[in-house]
Amino acid sequence: MHETRSFAPPPAFAAAANLNAAKLEQLHAHAACDHEGFWADQARTQLSWRQRFEQTLDSSLAPRYRWFTGGLLNASYNCLDRHLAARGDKTAIVFEADDGAITRYSYAALHAEVCRLANALRGLGIGKSDRVVLYLPMGAQAVIAMQACARIGAIHSAVFGGFSAESLKDRIEDAGARLVITADAAPRGGKRVDLKTAVDKALAGGCASVERVLVYRRMDGCAMQPQRDLWWQDRVPTQCAECEPEWVESNHPLFLLYTSGSTGKPKGVQHSTAGYLLGATVTMQWVFDLKQSDVFWCTADIGWITGHSYVAYGPLSNGVTQLIFEGIPTYPDGERFWRMIAAHQVSVFYTAPTAIRALMRLGDHLPARHDLSSLRLLGTVGEPINPEAWMWYHRVIGGGRCPIVDTWWQTETGSMMIAPVPGAVATKPGSCTRPLPGICVDIVDEDGKPVTQIGRGGFLVITRPWPSMLSTIWGNDERYAETYFGRFGDQVYVAGDGAQRDEDGYIWILGRIDDVLNVSGHRLGTMEVESALAAHPRVAEAAVVGRPHDIKGEAILAFVVVRGERADAIAEGLPRELCVWVAEQLGAIARPDEVRLVDGLPKTRSGKIMRRLLRSIGAGETVTQDTSTLENPAILEQLRG
Ligand code: WT7
Repeated sequence: MHETRSFAPPPAFAAAANLNAAKLEQLHAHAACDHEGFWADQARTQLSWRQRFEQTLDSSLAPRYRWFTGGLLNASYNCLDRHLAARGDKTAIVFEADDGAITRYSYAALHAEVCRLANALRGLGIGKSDRVVLYLPMGAQAVIAMQACARIGAIHSAVFGGFSAESLKDRIEDAGARLVITADAAPRGGKRVDLKTAVDKALAGGCASVERVLVYRRMDGCAMQPQRDLWWQDRVPTQCAECEPEWVESNHPLFLLYTSGSTGKPKGVQHSTAGYLLGATVTMQWVFDLKQSDVFWCTADIGWITGHSYVAYGPLSNGVTQLIFEGIPTYPDGERFWRMIAAHQVSVFYTAPTAIRALMRLGDHLPARHDLSSLRLLGTVGEPINPEAWMWYHRVIGGGRCPIVDTWWQTETGSMMIAPVPGAVATKPGSCTRPLPGICVDIVDEDGKPVTQIGRGGFLVITRPWPSMLSTIWGNDERYAETYFGRFGDQVYVAGDGAQRDEDGYIWILGRIDDVLNVSGHRLGTMEVESALAAHPRVAEAAVVGRPHDIKGEAILAFVVVRGERADAIAEGLPRELCVWVAEQLGAIARPDEVRLVDGLPKTRSGKIMRRLLRSIGAGETVTQDTSTLENPAILEQLRG
């Protein structure tokens, strides 16, 4: 926040930009005086409609907002069919596998693949509103699967391949999925990640709604259950390469995506078709300054919202060429990203601060070996980026020429909300700058009053509905209203982040203000990790906090009270065992960095765990909180580890 450096848009960049300062001002002015009219214009010009919408925004059931009601469209038609005449032969996807093998799909070829899978799905009896869970490796098939679901009006719910069988089962059951699409296994960083085994395990434990499992053979095969499991390669290639889209109403659910909240149970964030697609489409033009000649690369996995908006939908809806990568940044070596940027002439590159920090540590000589001059714009997302990493990204990767767009948004917002428009807005390392046109953001205090004082923190809120906002939480409309609109009323969406403004009105995100952690840009609920720990027979009680970590941003520190003798448990290596246990329960991303065994947790008189105290201890700060209420002050020593 003491950052004072500012980087004006480079003049050559601004001159060629989709939006220069004057054009951006016009958009802001239009949106400010006619919020709905502005978005109606965008929807009419950016999307292809089967039938025009009747009403721009229906607020009659607030906080359930419905955008573009009465309109009929299909997301897959917008991403594929509408490009066929003008750019059917243009490359839509360049896929680079873990081992470096490259596969290209033109828009026409991708369209054909999507139609074939869509026909195969229809052949399996899957249709409008059915839920399909995707548990797939990162790759073209994941995009094809999402597009095929969208084509027939089925609702996809992608689950990140790093989640455990247990987490997968919870998501399948909550969604009531009829079909799971998976792969035998995925190569990642030279290792084999078994996906089908996890699906088998998940289905063995429940998931009564699942009728079929469609398996893409990516590696050397897997066990198949005859009545239930089908090979993609047996079913799909023989299908017809044309498939009439299912025309759906604007608010028909396009997908569910589970994300962590402040309770133990992840929530199925539900997105609409039209509003969502509009957000993903326009933000690519505004923030990535997208041109038809660009080669776009977003490194996010399909299992996260970034992989939905800026891999599966946004790039295709805009008809550009994108790179999709199966592997990890450090395999076979720390030059992988830079080698790929040079090889594929990537012009716009979008990644996470945690990856930037990890690669920065490996040294400047690695990127220096590659010609990165094709790059013209860099982006980041997922967590606040520290100025040091920002400056390195700018200087070493961007060669000092490329603007950096630090984009703030969430699974729930569907598309970017606060981000610089690179030809118009000066950037500052660590700030996501200003809200985009048509997005009304404020910072408010406990009473919901705008914080006017510069540098004072408050709740980040969005004060008007926007098209790509979530429609609801799947199967839990009350939790939707309560979580996002429960605090300041039906008009005010509460993001769950703290933020402050500087003297130029720039927004600086301060991080989550609820019990949500951000580990390597991935959201995790402390309660989820705590329930996983509590499920272990030796655990009596657990409290989980985040502690600062150089690369991951935040790492998990767990305080655990064991059943039986603490000394015995330490001697038996229980802390390590619990780390492995959590990874098995939830997935590797949830593995604690450290488990500390303690005789008791610090609690207030009313019995609430003093998390703030635990956070200070975890961060190695001197404890300033009142500890006089501690039943056993001696545990402070144990808590310090
Ligand atoms: C949370 C949302 C949006 C896709 C990836 C994460 C944090 C996200 C930024 C940013 C500071 C950021 C926030 C937010 N976050 N982008 N540019 N600067 N913080 O999606 O899993 O839904 O998490 O990520 O805390 O609330 P998500």
